[in-house]
Amino acid sequence: METITINGINDERFSSAAKALREGKLVAFPTETVYGLGANALDPQAVKRIFEVKGRPLDNPLIVHIAKVSQLSSLVKEIPAQAKTLMKAFWPGPLTLVLKKSESVPDEITAGLDTVAVRMPDNSIAIRLIEEAEVPVAAPSANLSGRPSPTAYHHVLEDLNGRIEYIINGGTCKIGVESTVLDITSGIPVILRPGGITLEMLEKVIGKIETDAVLKPEDGNKPRSPGMKYRHYSPNAKLFLFEGKSEDVIRKINTLASENRAKGLKTGVLSSLENKDRYVADVVVNIGSLSCLEEVASKLYDALRKFDEEKVDIIYSESFSEAGMGRAIMNRLKKAASERISIP
Ligand code: TXA
Ligand code: MG
Repeated sequence: METITINGINDERFSSAAKALREGKLVAFPTETVYGLGANALDPQAVKRIFEVKGRPLDNPLIVHIAKVSQLSSLVKEIPAQAKTLMKAFWPGPLTLVLKKSESVPDEITAGLDTVAVRMPDNSIAIRLIEEAEVPVAAPSANLSGRPSPTAYHHVLEDLNGRIEYIINGGTCKIGVESTVLDITSGIPVILRPGGITLEMLEKVIGKIETDAVLKPEDGNKPRSPGMKYRHYSPNAKLFLFEGKSEDVIRKINTLASENRAKGLKTGVLSSLENKDRYVADVVVNIGSLSCLEEVASKLYDALRKFDEEKVDIIYSESFSEAGMGRAIMNRLKKAASERISIP
């Protein structure tokens, strides 16, 4: 298949892409978090193709993207007061709300759950695309399953060129990690996936939130967010995640990197700006300052892909604070890691 690439909203073929999306074709598009692989959410065949193209497990449900709040009512049974408060505070933006689904949402999207995840992206290309398509758009991240999520146009090309009908270039995604997935269907809201809207931001608006209830006991241990059980966001190389005092972590990484380089392996370090000149590895990628976690988030996936490009065999990664955006960063690093090493 030949993929048609579109250069933003002003590209004369933008409207054809929106029309094709409505008619069941797949269109990758930028959002403020990561690029999405979009299909008409009301077309079960189109939604099925998303799973085939990505190689995504069928039991991992998709997020439905909307351009205006009025599109929500047909997707959900009811809009609780709490949802309205959250939408007012954070939409458009990187917050996905899990709500009770209506009959019109195909089972292919929700993997058979009775809930649906919905968000309104904060990106003018995404909004315009959904508006012109005149349908809600189901979209997972536009990567092959298991690969780091795409935060730049060339990442999407790497994974999906030749596999889908359209890719829209919208430059680099400003946030760089996915949306926060918040389940508000029962009692205290639960963060199913930390992301672009932090726990602290949510608690300021709606009070107490749970962060670790991955299982819903009344469903007999059925995972509440099926996506969370998969190893994810992974580069090809093995990633070792180090936690501990900076000095100790640097010393340990340098010892291991030297040993493995001596064995002929290519080594990489995912480093903060502060420590980037202190490593002996083959490839050191600086993902920003320990004191600017927004920057670290925005560079994380690009860094993981760089190690693949450089054909690194082993990656050693520093850890970051789990406050604010750090919670999402550390969640992704832990999922990408083959092993976590904590130095006492
Ligand atoms: O920022 C984002 O959210 C990006 C952009 C494209 O919008 N999308 C994204 O989609 O990250 P994806 O498919 O890579 O991740 C969707 C997550 C998965 O963890 C999935 O399990 C969860 O949302 N999810 C979807 N529907 C759900 C539901 N009904 N209940 C619980 N979790 C759900
Ligand atoms: Mg994903």
